[in-house]
Amino acid sequence: MIDPEEELLSDIIQFLKNEREIYGPFSIPVITAMPEEIKDTDTFNEPGSSFTAKSADLDKRSSASKSEAMELTLQEKLDSCTTLESLRQLCEQADELRTDLQGTNLVFGVGNPHADLMLIGEAPGEQEDKQGEPFVGAAGQLLNKILDAIKFNREDVYIANILKHRPPGNRNPNPDERLRSLPYLLKQIDLIQPKIILCLGKISGTTLLKKEDTLGNLRGVFYPFRGAELTVTYHPAALLRNSQWKRPAWEDVQKVRKRYDELGGKP
Ligand code: URA
Repeated sequence: MIDPEEELLSDIIQFLKNEREIYGPFSIPVITAMPEEIKDTDTFNEPGSSFTAKSADLDKRSSASKSEAMELTLQEKLDSCTTLESLRQLCEQADELRTDLQGTNLVFGVGNPHADLMLIGEAPGEQEDKQGEPFVGAAGQLLNKILDAIKFNREDVYIANILKHRPPGNRNPNPDERLRSLPYLLKQIDLIQPKIILCLGKISGTTLLKKEDTLGNLRGVFYPFRGAELTVTYHPAALLRNSQWKRPAWEDVQKVRKRYDELGGKP
């Protein structure tokens, strides 16, 4: 009786030889002997034998590595987004953008996709979560007034946050949440290509600048940032609680308007 193991091997060898003849030398060496690893022949013919199990293992391994290879990295997924809409769809699917508050809505960003001024806050609050739009609550009302004072309509600029989902109890975004959200926000900035980025509050400024410092030290400077100039001022919610910061915030936004005009921002 022909040994099935020998028969299989000789079939494989013949197949590889034929392939080589047709296609020339290739990277798979022709096997002339069964590798030790799978040469466990005692139970070769029995269902569930070690040979069958090992083959299945190899199959599993190779299909796992195939699907690993097919799984796109986050960077590849982000690179494939060429519009804000495609990035928004990617964010809808991204569990890593969620906080530990269940059932929140994505708050992607709003405004002119070609804005020369981009404003970046910290994270959506209750109203923002409900409406799916940043800065629509009390802090948002003040932000609209600030924009108005420096002759911008809300529709002229683009507004986003470091986090795209609401944290529980409106707590500050934690470092892990900020880190997970950052690649998406950086892609959003790259798609908009603003001339000026105004960070609202310390969390926004320190996250983007990757630099721990006080807001007092960070403000008043235009930092080069991804082809734009980034500056930091007080968060509107902080201004609602601390009126003594309104004067320096006013000075900051006056500087933003001046620099915007110097850089040829859209009128
Ligand atoms: N505070 C923020 O930082 N962002 C918002 O969208 C609302 C309040």
